[in-house]
Amino acid sequence: MKGVIFTEFLSMVESAHGLDMVDTIIEKSDLPSGGAYTAVGTYPHTEIVSLVCNLSEEISVPVPDLLKAYGQHLFHRLAASYPSFVAQTDDPLEFLELVETYIHVEVRKLYPDAELPSFECSRPNAPNELHMTYHSVRHMEDVCEGLIRGSLEHFHRTANIKRQSIDDDSELFIITLNN
Ligand code: HEM
Repeated sequence: MKGVIFTEFLSMVESAHGLDMVDTIIEKSDLPSGGAYTAVGTYPHTEIVSLVCNLSEEISVPVPDLLKAYGQHLFHRLAASYPSFVAQTDDPLEFLELVETYIHVEVRKLYPDAELPSFECSRPNAPNELHMTYHSVRHMEDVCEGLIRGSLEHFHRTANIKRQSIDDDSELFIITLNN
């Protein structure tokens, strides 16, 4: 997993809970990398899981809530780092459809070793209802929900998000945009 995922997580923890908390969770997590992340490096994705589990214990917030908050924070950082990706459209559902067909394709060109999920998108019932199926062996569906929520915020829109587990590695998100 790319270092940016880790550096953004630790910077979120630092702004919310201070540098001491960052040190505490790095020490408790006993990480192969030692926690010295650089944005361009690549690290085992299990390290983010350890960091989040230890933060959860320290601050008594459930892991899924932390992962969603993190995804939401991460989206705004990614949008700031890659302004041309979010400038493709001003429609949030169209933007979410572009993650699979354009954004992650471009990410893959920049970082050939990126570990990216895949998505299948359709609008079977109505133009304002997107069905987005997430597939990944890394099981970051809570981070994914946070990224979706961050995208909606970015476009100043609200939506109802329903989730349904499809199989071991897949989760369906039904995103119904409010007017
Ligand atoms: C400007 C927009 C975006 C950029 C630049 C971007 C880029 C990236 C990058 C660099 C990674 C890390 C790859 C790695 O660690 O090896 C990643 C992972 C991921 N992205 Fe995106 N992304 C964007 C938008 C989104 C959105 C809107 C979603 C959700 C619908 C999404 C879903 C994910 C998920 C869930 C992962 C974690 C890896 C996994 O689940 O397998 N991304 N993305």
